[in-house]
Amino acid sequence: MSATPRRRWGLGARLLAAIVAVILVAAATAWAVAAAIGPEIFHDHMLMAEPADSSVVSHAEEAFTTAWTLSLSLALLAALLTSVVVSVFLTRRIARSLEGVRQAAARVASGDYAARVPDVHMGGEFDDLAGAFNTMAADLGEIEQTRTRMLGDLAHEMRTPVATLDGYLEGILDGVVTADEPTVGMLREQVARLARLAQDITLVTAAGEGRLSMHWQALQVGALLDDAAAQAAARFTDKGVELRVEATEEARQTVLTADPDRLGQVLTNLLDNAVRHTPQGGRVQLEAQRAGSTLRLSVRDSGSGIAAEHLPHLFERFYRADAARDRAHGGSGIGLAIVHSIVHAHGGAVTATSPGPGHGALFTVDLPVVADTRPGHRSP
Ligand SMILES: Nc1ncnc2c1ncn2[C@@H]1O[C@H](COP(=O)(O)OP(=O)(O)OP(=O)(O)O)[C@@H](O)[C@H]1O
Ligand SMILES: [Mg+2]
Repeated sequence: MSATPRRRWGLGARLLAAIVAVILVAAATAWAVAAAIGPEIFHDHMLMAEPADSSVVSHAEEAFTTAWTLSLSLALLAALLTSVVVSVFLTRRIARSLEGVRQAAARVASGDYAARVPDVHMGGEFDDLAGAFNTMAADLGEIEQTRTRMLGDLAHEMRTPVATLDGYLEGILDGVVTADEPTVGMLREQVARLARLAQDITLVTAAGEGRLSMHWQALQVGALLDDAAAQAAARFTDKGVELRVEATEEARQTVLTADPDRLGQVLTNLLDNAVRHTPQGGRVQLEAQRAGSTLRLSVRDSGSGIAAEHLPHLFERFYRADAARDRAHGGSGIGLAIVHSIVHAHGGAVTATSPGPGHGALFTVDLPVVADTRPGHRSP
């Protein structure tokens, strides 16, 4: 059972009541002061004039009282009326401005993130309030857009493996397809794809919300490079692409405070992309150099390259330069978003460059070597 909300006074009425109360108090004070001082002073002056007849004094004092009571009453009444008129005008203006905020807030609450508070020039505080509100509405709109796009992309990514699983299972049930080793292997591959998708999304979402768990450790760059190369070796051999590690001794000896598994994932994702986009006979280089307090890790390939218009978007979730071809490779466009999140969690930056399609690509990760510049860093 919902109780009917008690009708409360509006801001305009409250302001007006407050102003009237102030005026009444001011009028009463003025009256009290005039009543206390005026007749006294008048009386003293009358006595100083030494009138022959005392009835003249009482008559004059009576006349004075009537005169000041009447004139002060009329003056205060006029002041009260004009003040109320001015106050009504002012409170209406304030109430109108707040009504703009209320309407905009109601529109945002109902999902219309394009709603904005109009400019009303009501002073700095109000402009700040309106500015903060408009920024909030714009941010909410952006979040909503990303959310809708991500849900759409996610549904899209799930559709292919789910449809494949469904088709094969139906075939097996109908006896059209035999559940032999290759078929089961294929089904397991689709399940693994869905599982990886769920894992990747959990990771980027956690990173986006700033709750990516990090296990900081002292990590020698040489070991990081060798591990990543060893892990990727089989894929390179299978595809017939050469993988070279080129690191200066200074870079190899550098010790980072990092999460070894996560940085390993960064290199794995970059190497995975490189081998995927490099044709047989091509070459991929994993490089490391030290420049002052920065360690630069690069993955350079001689593969299909990336057109300039795609470069600014590569690190966005679900972005693929060639959706059909990349999806056929099993990619869902999250790998580089994960790379971006992990590198940022290490206080670093990642960039992608390419001279254009057919001319290879270069991904560069810059990491700070000074441990305590890292956000959220705790010494191991
Ligand atoms: N070395 C590269 N050469 C050419 N294009 C690349 C390279 N690395 C990435 N790309 C392009 O950037 C897109 C995004 O890469 P990302 O790693 O995020 O996704 P993916 O590899 O398609 O899928 P996932 O990594 O989630 O399996 C790729 O789809 C591809 O179009
Ligand atoms: Mg990838």
